[in-house]
Amino acid sequence: MTQPSRPKAAPPVRQAPDTPPAPPRDPAPPAPRPDTEVVFDPATYTAGVPFDALARLRRDIPVAWVAEVPVLGWPAGPGFWLVLRHADVESVLRRPELFSSALGATQIRDPATPQALDYVRRMMLNMDPPEQSRLRRLLSRSFTPRAVAQLEDGIRGHARAICDRVFAGPGGECDFAKDVAADLPLLALADVLGVPEQDRWLLFDWSNRVIGYQDPDYASSAAFDPAAGTAMAAEALALRPAPDRDGRMPDPRTREGMPDLYAYAHLLAEEKRRRPGDDVMSILLAQADEGGGRVSAAEFENMFWLFAVAGNETLRNGLPGACIALLEHPEAQQALRADPSLLPVAVDEMLRWWTPVMTFRRTAARPCELGGQHIDAGEKVVVSFTSANRDEEVFADPDSFDIRRQPNPHLVFGHGPHFCLGAHLARSQMRALFEEVLARTSSLAYAGQPSYLRSNFQRGVKRLPVSWVAA
Ligand code: HEM
Repeated sequence: MTQPSRPKAAPPVRQAPDTPPAPPRDPAPPAPRPDTEVVFDPATYTAGVPFDALARLRRDIPVAWVAEVPVLGWPAGPGFWLVLRHADVESVLRRPELFSSALGATQIRDPATPQALDYVRRMMLNMDPPEQSRLRRLLSRSFTPRAVAQLEDGIRGHARAICDRVFAGPGGECDFAKDVAADLPLLALADVLGVPEQDRWLLFDWSNRVIGYQDPDYASSAAFDPAAGTAMAAEALALRPAPDRDGRMPDPRTREGMPDLYAYAHLLAEEKRRRPGDDVMSILLAQADEGGGRVSAAEFENMFWLFAVAGNETLRNGLPGACIALLEHPEAQQALRADPSLLPVAVDEMLRWWTPVMTFRRTAARPCELGGQHIDAGEKVVVSFTSANRDEEVFADPDSFDIRRQPNPHLVFGHGPHFCLGAHLARSQMRALFEEVLARTSSLAYAGQPSYLRSNFQRGVKRLPVSWVAA
């Protein structure tokens, strides 16, 4: 596979022929960084999303070549095409035969070794149809109306319990990211996966290790009581890797990095085959596909990993992002309090405005054209949901937050064969939480500076100090 670099030609320097020599001046300020570099650098996002740079690129170079400069201790990469317009993002995502999820997987950075690539390709997210379609069909059928109704009941109960704890008394302050938003996705996920109540702390540990790999603020989270768990938890915990001398855990996006998660998933699957519950994963394990085949142990373990990450990290950022939308727009808060029936439509605008997952990657299977650019086989193609969701060709006044925006064809949950399987549950959680929060408060306001995740993949909120007054 060729790894072309695509240096851009330097702009021509214009000089008047008879200009007198310039007098000596203070040293010139450093040249501004190219928009593509700003957009790529994970450190950029600790100060917020560079919407101006994205808008310029979307207008001028809608399929832009981005050099992968070394960042965060990672070496330089071969570079990638960044797709910024809504129509082009859809066009990439609905053609898996041309823009593959399997060839190089779906993260911007290539897996470290061919074995690591092989490994992540056992996950539905990193497969192409028809392999992916089989697992997806089995899984979609496992979200039966009864199972979903039960999950939604659970979500409402969890949201009430969290808000009972946080919004007690006449008013106060909290960290919305940690105290309100962090628990709900994990509790809902534990219900989906059928993880016994006493083992739920394991999910907290795994998710913090995944998030912490990018941002050291999360790295050590293991505030749990192993004695309280099941025998499955104890067996898995014996395999938990130890942090290295710098306190860093191994890469959680590999099998070796999460041996405890895989061991637990294996034990849980055995238990569910022996004693099925009424959770989605028990239903999944009991199903057979058209050829009579069942979900294998390895498929289940990989699905467990995918859910534990996809179903948690995303919402853990989406919920505080939605809260920020309300803090920045007090008039929207009041409108939603006055008429809670606006919430289902508002939830989609909160998701569009924040867009928790900013990018996903494909690899070109053949040479092709996109947005006027020639793309070679083997090149990385990265779609920007953040940019597509602010595309002025699709959204009127795209930077404004309009809780009545309809239609709202945002791409927060992707598009095409990999469209998010948890979209319905994610929306249910957003609705349930904000129904409770808005009903219990008469105002929410910033009580300090939020702090954002250093990542070009997840638009994350680490801390969100909020003050509230009871309704
Ligand atoms: C706001 C929250 C969420 C966001 C922004 C989000 C976003 C996404 C996106 C963009 C994709 C497409 C990836 C691609 O095209 O390669 C995806 C796939 C997926 N999501 Fe979500 N997600 C969210 C919540 C959830 C939840 C709660 C679950 C599980 C309960 C979940 C499970 C999955 C799974 C299993 C896939 C892979 C589907 C496939 O490969 O066919 N997600 N998600």
